[in-house]
Amino acid sequence: MPAMNSTLTSFSFPTPTLFGVRALQELQGRLVKLGVRRPLVVTDGGLARTEAFSALTMTLGEGGRDRDWFLYAGVHPNPIESDVVEPAALFREKNCDGVIAIGGGSPLDAGKAARLLVKRPGFNLTKFYDESDWSGLAPFVAIPTTAGTGSEVGRSSVITLDATKRKAVLFHPELLAKLVILDPELTRGLPPKLTAATGADALTHCIESFTCPQFHPMCDGIALEGVRLIMEALPRAVRDGNDLDARGKMLVAAAMGAVAFQKDLGVVHSLAHPLSTICGMHHGLANALCLVAGMKFCATRKPGLYRRVGIACGLEVMKCSDAEADARTIACVAEFLAALGLNARLREHGVKAEQLAALVVQAVDDPCHKTNAVLVTAADFRRLYEEVL
Ligand SMILES: NC(=O)c1ccc[n+]([C@@H]2O[C@H](COP(=O)([O-])OP(=O)(O)OC[C@H]3O[C@@H](n4cnc5c(N)ncnc54)[C@H](O)[C@@H]3O)[C@@H](O)[C@H]2O)c1
Ligand SMILES: [Fe+2]
Repeated sequence: MPAMNSTLTSFSFPTPTLFGVRALQELQGRLVKLGVRRPLVVTDGGLARTEAFSALTMTLGEGGRDRDWFLYAGVHPNPIESDVVEPAALFREKNCDGVIAIGGGSPLDAGKAARLLVKRPGFNLTKFYDESDWSGLAPFVAIPTTAGTGSEVGRSSVITLDATKRKAVLFHPELLAKLVILDPELTRGLPPKLTAATGADALTHCIESFTCPQFHPMCDGIALEGVRLIMEALPRAVRDGNDLDARGKMLVAAAMGAVAFQKDLGVVHSLAHPLSTICGMHHGLANALCLVAGMKFCATRKPGLYRRVGIACGLEVMKCSDAEADARTIACVAEFLAALGLNARLREHGVKAEQLAALVVQAVDDPCHKTNAVLVTAADFRRLYEEVL
């Protein structure tokens, strides 16, 4: 813990969130309260063919498309700059007055960031941090249909920029949603593999934020309860997609993971980000395949780091030695992921040994490991990638 008298910390949990089966039905009334009459809906092509999207269409009124609500459905997985530029242009062309993003983290991040370019058309996103005044962004409503990233409650948007070909984290409090709708019905159609991989992202958020050394006991509590919920609900949601209790718990746990990582993240996310930008891997899957190796690496340098994570997993590790508490917790997480089919090696997902050098360069540059529980060097990244390759 930092010296209490020398560090000023700000705590903030401000996103209004509606949770429950059929919460989506509240959307129209809430839009009126927000003063949004001509929303732009941002999503991806796959999602636009799902029942979750049909439910939104029904709510907004089928006839309203291209009249009083508008659609951008071109967001890529691991969004790129055009996924921000194009909806911003459509927003202006159609005189929209708010953004509704529906989908996984990709459309949520793209829709969230599009408002930046609505405010400042033509702005160069690589200069994002040179601009301090992002006040007055268009209102943003976030409707997640995966339970993983928690982007809906986050102040950041993760976009691969053209100039750098790396994932940039655009962070600003003004990016926050004015309303989040967590409706378990909307995740019902998410296939088991994506349910597992996105859930593993949420688990990684909870574990990495809890073990990140910054002083934030509120986030720590939320992270540990997130771990407990995911351990209970994720296997059920993967087994039976119609289990709305499990789906609901996962949606809340994913949001909790993202609230918790206001504290920041760690080495596993720095390993995962280059696997998406260089190898095109899904973000949650990349985290899942690196999580156990990352935990082992941290535990050997900071024994006892995972004891309370183990307790949240339901293990009786209170009285064990530090080494045993870590070993049992890591084994539990490894078994949990394996039972979800998330124990493959990177090469089984197309990663090649020749790509390791480029992966290491990007991982070193990634900001997440700067807040890891222990220092991570380029040589460590190399060893970790080799371990999971
Ligand atoms: N902003 C943040 O705080 C934050 C945090 C973590 C990750 N991210 C970012 O989020 C992105 C990953 O998001 P994701 O894991 O949710 O995946 P995603 O948004 O890329 O979606 C993956 C696939 O799932 C499909 N899908 C989504 N919901 C569905 C449903 N209900 N039924 C059927 N198919 C559905 C989509 O069409 C897509 O093909 C990455 O770019 C990552 O960097 C952002
Ligand atoms: Fe993540």
